[in-house]
Amino acid sequence: MKILLVGGGGREHAIAWKLAQSPLCTKLFCAPGNAGIARVAELVPIAAADVDAIALWAARNGMDFVVVASDDPLALGLVDKCKAAGLRAFGPSQAAAELEWSKVFSKGLMKKYNIPTAEYEMFTDCESSVKYAKLQHPSAQKPVVIKADGLALGKGVIIARSADEAEDAIRDMMEGGRFAASGRRVVVEEFLRGREVTVLCFTDGETVVPMPASRDHKRAFDGDLGPNTGGMGVITPVADYTPEFAARCMDEIFLPTVRAMKAEGRPFAGVLYFELMLTPDGPKVIEYNARFGDPEAQAILPLLESDLLDIMLAVEDGNLRRVTPVWTDAACACVVMASGGYPGDYPKGLPIAGIESLSEDMLLFHAGTARDTEGRLVTAGGRVLALCATGNAPKEALERVYGQIDKVTFNGAFYRRDIGKST
Ligand code: AMP
Ligand code: GLY
Repeated sequence: MKILLVGGGGREHAIAWKLAQSPLCTKLFCAPGNAGIARVAELVPIAAADVDAIALWAARNGMDFVVVASDDPLALGLVDKCKAAGLRAFGPSQAAAELEWSKVFSKGLMKKYNIPTAEYEMFTDCESSVKYAKLQHPSAQKPVVIKADGLALGKGVIIARSADEAEDAIRDMMEGGRFAASGRRVVVEEFLRGREVTVLCFTDGETVVPMPASRDHKRAFDGDLGPNTGGMGVITPVADYTPEFAARCMDEIFLPTVRAMKAEGRPFAGVLYFELMLTPDGPKVIEYNARFGDPEAQAILPLLESDLLDIMLAVEDGNLRRVTPVWTDAACACVVMASGGYPGDYPKGLPIAGIESLSEDMLLFHAGTARDTEGRLVTAGGRVLALCATGNAPKEALERVYGQIDKVTFNGAFYRRDIGKST
């Protein structure tokens, strides 16, 4: 099969690496890809969000399967466009992906179908949302959570610990235009206490197959300090996601969500990402994503023994029951190396050195990398690389990563030294 993968980050490198191992895959393309993906796929220089151009390219070049991995093209309806062009495509429709691209939609769905989540109110008007947030009397002990409605690169959530902080966050989103259209509506919600865990599931709209649970680290700096990022490191599995929690999540959250989407006439097929808080009252949904996580994919896919392409084809066929994904018992750790300044402004084009000295048991996934005019590997994004290793337990996997990570260098590089530490 000729496959086109859409996206160009670390997640897409992990997916490309795994798809390229499939005996069903004769040729892999990736749009736009990055310097690491270029080792396993032929790059197609079209931006992931240029969905019309991608669908056209895929049809003209006879792709047998299009895998849409990143959030923007899903929100822009690339899967629908591919299907309209007679192509097979993996990922949810635009209507189903609304679970991710609108928090107002996802919160409304959870309320309607009694899926456990934080209490909330939705606002389209700045003054009333400020008034409501202040009435919650936010404090360090009892913060309120302010969320921009739309996609915001993982940065649209503010945990406000005072009335002033809440007001600033709301004004920034609704008046300051910080998130453009994504901030026109906001959700103000209850702060949940507990342990956070992410569970990605394959689903064809009916059957739900969870992958090993993982834990991301969203804050930029050690000790969970600094601004939220797309994710700075992941470990899998997660000890506090016990079989009891897993069973409850399946019954109270995973299946009800998939059934709700079907009942709403928006069946969800693809990877459904559940970000959960394990609270004293049971598991609750923090948010949904409509795709693999980044960097969750980099930590989870190395544990998948089965053929990823075959699973994706079963999802697309509406016949996920025919496959039983098999995972190794191992643990995996992934630590992201980011550009100085990320998640704010950062320089690009800085040479990256030392990759060749990593030991062979390491997996290095490229996120924001490119080749300069002389063919040298350079930085090209906020998150630059994800270094991953497996082990018998997360601790062992983490020791492997931290034992090697300083071999790779670029100016201003930083990474968290405490991934998995609180686990
Ligand atoms: P999100 O973009 O919705 O995943 O939120 C980013 C991060 O904010 C999450 O990973 C949580 O750590 C935190 N967060 C979001 N909503 C809540 C909530 N209601 N209570 C506590 N923490 C939250
Ligand atoms: N790592 C969080 C995300 O992919 O949304």
